[in-house]
Amino acid sequence: MTRLFAYLLAGLLSVSLPAASAENGQPADPRTSLGLNPAERAQFLSEMRQMLGSIQGILQGISSEDREMIAKYASLSGNRMARATPDSVRNRLPQAFKDIGGPTHMLFEELVIRAETDDMDMLLGQTATLMNQCMNCHTQFRAD
Ligand code: HEC
Repeated sequence: MTRLFAYLLAGLLSVSLPAASAENGQPADPRTSLGLNPAERAQFLSEMRQMLGSIQGILQGISSEDREMIAKYASLSGNRMARATPDSVRNRLPQAFKDIGGPTHMLFEELVIRAETDDMDMLLGQTATLMNQCMNCHTQFRAD
């Protein structure tokens, strides 16, 4: 009788423990890991901060109607940044990631050219469109 009780108790615990940890723990992260090592991750995140810096500079340029400033900051995250990705990292990145990342750098390049002639409200719209790429990728991937 006591042994049966012990079995029951053990059974209850083994069921209730995972349930409890799911309640208290973090919700699972559904994003796909890029499989980067710590050094690659640090480099990757630094490029991301550069892209945020480009967006900031572009918006500042638009608000002060400074075409050179827009072009300068856009070019920092264009093809130059795309080319800087080491082959060892590039070869491992999932195709779905590259399908968003490549066009993102191209959109920065397009902004460099458009900054010469487009109206400021068009440049603002282009920047908002570009930022859909940031949003789209961030929902899908994580850098570890
Ligand atoms: C092709 C995918 C992709 C695109 C496009 C992308 N990002 Fe990221 N970004 C990531 C990933 C992955 C992370 C890491 C998220 C994590 O691990 O939680 C990240 C992280 C960041 C971070 C955090 C950096 C840090 O130091 O922690 C910033 C800021 C950022 N991105 C800005 C941007 C901006 C701005 C854009 C658009 C102009 C952009 N990203 C476009 C994939 C992308």
